Amino acid sequence: MSAQVLVVGSINADDAVRLARFPGPGETVSARTLTTALGGKGANQAVAAARAGADVRLVGAVGADDGAPLIAALDADGIDTAAVARLDGVPSGRAIVLIDDDAENSIVVVPGANAGIPQETVRTACAALRPGDALLLQHEVPIAVSRLAAELASNAGATVVWNAAPAPTSVDELVGHVDLLLVNEHELAAIADLLGVAAEGTTERIAGVVDATGAGVVCTLGADGAAYRIGDEHGVAPARSVEAVDTTAAGDTFAGYLAALTGLPLADRMRRALDAASLAVTRPGAAPSIPARGEVEGLAA
Ligand code: ADP
Ligand code: NA
Repeated sequence: MSAQVLVVGSINADDAVRLARFPGPGETVSARTLTTALGGKGANQAVAAARAGADVRLVGAVGADDGAPLIAALDADGIDTAAVARLDGVPSGRAIVLIDDDAENSIVVVPGANAGIPQETVRTACAALRPGDALLLQHEVPIAVSRLAAELASNAGATVVWNAAPAPTSVDELVGHVDLLLVNEHELAAIADLLGVAAEGTTERIAGVVDATGAGVVCTLGADGAAYRIGDEHGVAPARSVEAVDTTAAGDTFAGYLAALTGLPLADRMRRALDAASLAVTRPGAAPSIPARGEVEGLAA
């Protein structure tokens, strides 16, 4: 039986703007292209988990007036969207993603409906969680919503995975309920600071955060792969060498695959999640760039 993954998180329309270089203060730059597609860390990670082969339900919120294409895109991936609220009088979340010729990105997020996820839908969805299921959280919806979900899921015996992105300014609400913390180096440094972990260097910081929280930690390192410490297992798993076109959703692809593949041994899980994320950076866009399981398995063959 495939793993059940419940994602509680953000759903955005991503406006991807490609330009030669980012504008400075007071400067105007002409874009080459604009494309709009499904994005938001919650939606991207739900798509990644579904493409990895899991049964996925998403709890979130969109605007009643402009949310239909976002829900249609999620439905197309076979994600259960019954718990996505359609809110009157607010726009769907939106991200303006600037991508320069070096494939660097710079992002402005407008939360919109993501700020209004009803607590009742969180309660209902979490009531269906069973031991062996995974709850996957990010940090683009109110922390009170994530906290409620984490508490209910850990009480139900589900594995709670927190991709603490964007970097949080507080971890107290969640840390007691998290089994696995997923971060990049910047988020790791922020969390180490918040926890009073003084260590320098990624490996030392990870060990410090594991000691302080009791959770496993995986820290993605961009082109260098990912460092991890989960229970007795620790190390650095390298990424495949690829030509980066657009790193949008790389971290989301990694998180969705890792949460979906809880049944695999850690080394295989890491390999697949890294390969999936490396494929995502070779293609433009957020959700559209996330590879399907067959493509990832093809790489390994
Ligand atoms: P985030 O985008 O969240 O900051 P990272 O930049 O650490 O996350 O990337 C997440 C994962 O995406 C990496 O662990 C790796 O698998 C893949 N990745 C990102 N950038 C590259 C790259 N330049 N080459 C190969 N893989 C990459
Ligand atoms: Na991409």
